[in-house]
Amino acid sequence: MFRTAVALAALTLSGFVCADEQCSVTIQGTDQMTYDLKTIHVPASCKQFTVTLKHPGNLPRNVMGHNWVLTRKDDLKGVADDGAKAGEGNDYIQPGDARVLAHTKLIGGNEQASVTLDTKGLKPGDDYVYFCSYPFHATVMKGTLSFGG
Ligand code: CU
Repeated sequence: MFRTAVALAALTLSGFVCADEQCSVTIQGTDQMTYDLKTIHVPASCKQFTVTLKHPGNLPRNVMGHNWVLTRKDDLKGVADDGAKAGEGNDYIQPGDARVLAHTKLIGGNEQASVTLDTKGLKPGDDYVYFCSYPFHATVMKGTLSFGG
């Protein structure tokens, strides 16, 4: 009896979380230069998908700034290199960079930023990566994004 109740509660909870987060996700960028998510999946049913980046740390953006940048897998290095040259004033994104599929602004500790992307631009089965374009952060602050299914 007790076991059944627990199983039901777990089922209800996971169902709620799934429905709530289906077309959005929250990812944290920390003072330790890490993201808390290594993968993000965008369901095919989502016409739009919203990523909210939170920085739970205390360090300012000029010391430990983070953003969330989405590109195709092969574009990571070029976008990160050009972003570093573009500087903090451009959120470490080269203005008008067509390789950037979506990005948030650069934030510091206790800040957050969101971006909503149109999934029309994503192809099922293609390899996408997200990363922080603050200089040198992408070596560890990166993950893979999949679409469809
Ligand atoms: Cu960063």
